Amino acid sequence: MYTSYKVMKDILAVIRSRFSPHSFLDREVADDVVDRILEAGRLAPSAKNRQPWRFVVVRDLAKRQLISQAAYNEPWIVQAPVHVAVCSTNIDYKMPNGQTAYPIDLSFAAAFMALQAVDEGLACCINTTFDENEIRDLLTVPYGMRVVLLLILGHSDEKPTGHERLAKSRIVSFEHW
Ligand SMILES: Cc1cc2nc3c(=O)[nH]c(=O)nc-3n(C[C@H](O)[C@H](O)[C@H](O)COP(=O)(O)O)c2cc1C
Repeated sequence: MYTSYKVMKDILAVIRSRFSPHSFLDREVADDVVDRILEAGRLAPSAKNRQPWRFVVVRDLAKRQLISQAAYNEPWIVQAPVHVAVCSTNIDYKMPNGQTAYPIDLSFAAAFMALQAVDEGLACCINTTFDENEIRDLLTVPYGMRVVLLLILGHSDEKPTGHERLAKSRIVSFEHW
């Protein structure tokens, strides 16, 4: 039985080991692994619990090749055996603070899926360098919906370069800016 402290420690370990790979091994990903990654996205929070998302999973090689073309032929994209297009189903809702909800909602879902992927021993790169209209046509995404990002998933033997991040002292303040 996990204590909440143990859960927090494990989550930070997963967060620390996540990185953006740009090469993937020729190795399949089991269906149950993909299913748990999607479950992590399904359980993500969203503004007013509207869940304005659809996750389009692509595993077919011919389709992955077309996605790769729409993503300007980055070679590592087609290498990855699983692509998940994280798409919106509602782009209108604004939160009480006046900001548009869907990019934030979808980012939470994507982050949850990326972390679950790492916990499953996979690597995951978020990709936003693609022609959205091409991906939309390819995946028959209805007009007006957005393809916000692609999760490019698979096994990778790449070594993480290490996180170059701003120091906490630069990004955190207490009680005032
Ligand atoms: C919203 C967003 C969009 C991104 N788009 C791309 C992309 O188009 N291509 C790419 O190679 N990486 C992309 N990344 C990955 C970032 O470049 C990467 O997370 C960042 O450089 C930090 O490196 P790390 O993930 O290895 O820690 C994206 C990440 C985020 C959060």
